[in-house]
Amino acid sequence: MSFRAETQRRRTFAIISHPDAGKTTLTEKLLLFSGAIHIAGSVKARKASRHATSDWMEIEKQRGISVASSVMQMLYRDHVINLLDTPGHRDFSEDTYRVLTAVDSALMVIDAANGVEPQTRRLIEVCRQRDTPIITFINKMDREGRDPIALLDEIEAELGMPCVPMTWPVGQGKAFGGIVDLRAKHMRLFRAGEDRVTEQEIVPLSEAQALRERFGHDFELAEQNIELLTEAAPAFDREAFLAARQTPVFFGSAVNNFGVQEVLDALVDLAPSPAPRNAGVRIVQPDDEHFSGVVFKVQANMDPSHRDRIAFVRVYSGRYTQGMKLKVQRTGKELRPTSVVTFLSQRREAVDEAYAGDIIGFTTHGGVQLGDTITEGHASQAGLQYTGLPFFAPELFQAVELANPMKSKQLQAGLLQLGEEGAIQVFRPQEGGPMLLGAVGQLQFEVVQHRLKAEYGVEVRLMPSRFVGARWITADSPEELKKFTDANASKLALDAADTLAYLLTSPYDLRLTQERFPKIHFHPLREHA
Ligand code: G4P
Repeated sequence: MSFRAETQRRRTFAIISHPDAGKTTLTEKLLLFSGAIHIAGSVKARKASRHATSDWMEIEKQRGISVASSVMQMLYRDHVINLLDTPGHRDFSEDTYRVLTAVDSALMVIDAANGVEPQTRRLIEVCRQRDTPIITFINKMDREGRDPIALLDEIEAELGMPCVPMTWPVGQGKAFGGIVDLRAKHMRLFRAGEDRVTEQEIVPLSEAQALRERFGHDFELAEQNIELLTEAAPAFDREAFLAARQTPVFFGSAVNNFGVQEVLDALVDLAPSPAPRNAGVRIVQPDDEHFSGVVFKVQANMDPSHRDRIAFVRVYSGRYTQGMKLKVQRTGKELRPTSVVTFLSQRREAVDEAYAGDIIGFTTHGGVQLGDTITEGHASQAGLQYTGLPFFAPELFQAVELANPMKSKQLQAGLLQLGEEGAIQVFRPQEGGPMLLGAVGQLQFEVVQHRLKAEYGVEVRLMPSRFVGARWITADSPEELKKFTDANASKLALDAADTLAYLLTSPYDLRLTQERFPKIHFHPLREHA
């Protein structure tokens, strides 16, 4: 198959949802329907406690699980579908944002009873910033929920783009009768409690009278709503969907295998294949024959006696083949991974190659950071540097104090590595003093403290800090910058990438400082460059 054909048959997406909306269930059903797994329950069984506590075992378990199930690949209708898992816990939302930079589309799962919930809202914002196309799945139609029209209104308002229903429910809750496929013009009848792929009954709309008799008022109401929507809602327009200007909406019940097929088909028929990508010096086409990609996630080995880590690379161009030489663009150094996984292993016809859209994971002993661009080092790839991997300004700070001062070298090494993984942000105050850890969620501190001890043998105390925020700094001119740094030395620090940051001591600090130094730019987000 040609390069072009290989990239065009790829779909890479993530599911965005609020905990409990049904992400795990839907993931499992997608795998089931595509034939990637045969027994329902295998994803579910690996799911860690839904409400992660600060219990260490839980965290360790989660880290293990997230390696095992962080990329799932399925082959469906001759398409290669890559599903990237996103961490569920709010405190690790930074990781989730970074995963979203590695996908070409998102599947939003909404609980029909709860509508758009807080965590979904945050994830929507990230997708909106990047114009990621979103397919919407309204789940749990077998339960009493909100009126579908009201749900669509709410989703439209939250997303800021029109919803285009592709299916429409007949009844809801106990009276859920099935869904009308608005394009195929048939109704798929609901049957509860199926835990495997079964033939479902399909009735063409030309037999509407029979459906009216069978479902009574519910079918008539659906007919009325469909008519209303045909007039009020825009028609599905693939260009508009791809430009994140409308979202196709599907209804179903994941736990009952219902409506899942439609979603899988939508991923193939509607969702985009990998797009060209800006790499600074030029735009790289997915079917460019030379391999390139970005590290969007770094995960430490679960076994503390092995200090290696897995770097997850989203492929943006070319083909990766086993044994290929790789180069880290930032350092110019060659990368010699000890092993590479291509996430194709579930398939019997496993091939050790990956194309744009795929994810490869390789083990490394260091030298690789989040956001690194990896290439095969071909002459045409000089200077390639993908951008867009976000680091968010931390909102929580703690100072690190070493219990045993002799361990300062181990601490440096540990913090460097944890910083490279993105587990925490590390700041070195310019005027000296203890290092500062910056986090977006409280749990991150606990994990780092625990891992420093377990993996690096370093015991630290975490002390309160006077800082409540940070902004990365740039200036119109070196003179302006000097004026600013001279005046604020006690509040400046360098992060792990040696980027200068200004630390805030109060919510007003930023506004006041900005007023005093209008030529300094304060950035809440740093993109890996
Ligand atoms: P999450 O990954 O988004 O957190 O959600 P998950 O799939 O774990 O689903 C959360 C709960 O919602 C589960 O029930 C699951 O069975 C249920 N669920 C998922 N889809 C549907 C649906 O279409 N209809 C109904 N009625 N329920 C659905 P649980 O009782 O919390 O867990 P379990 O005991 O079933 O494992």
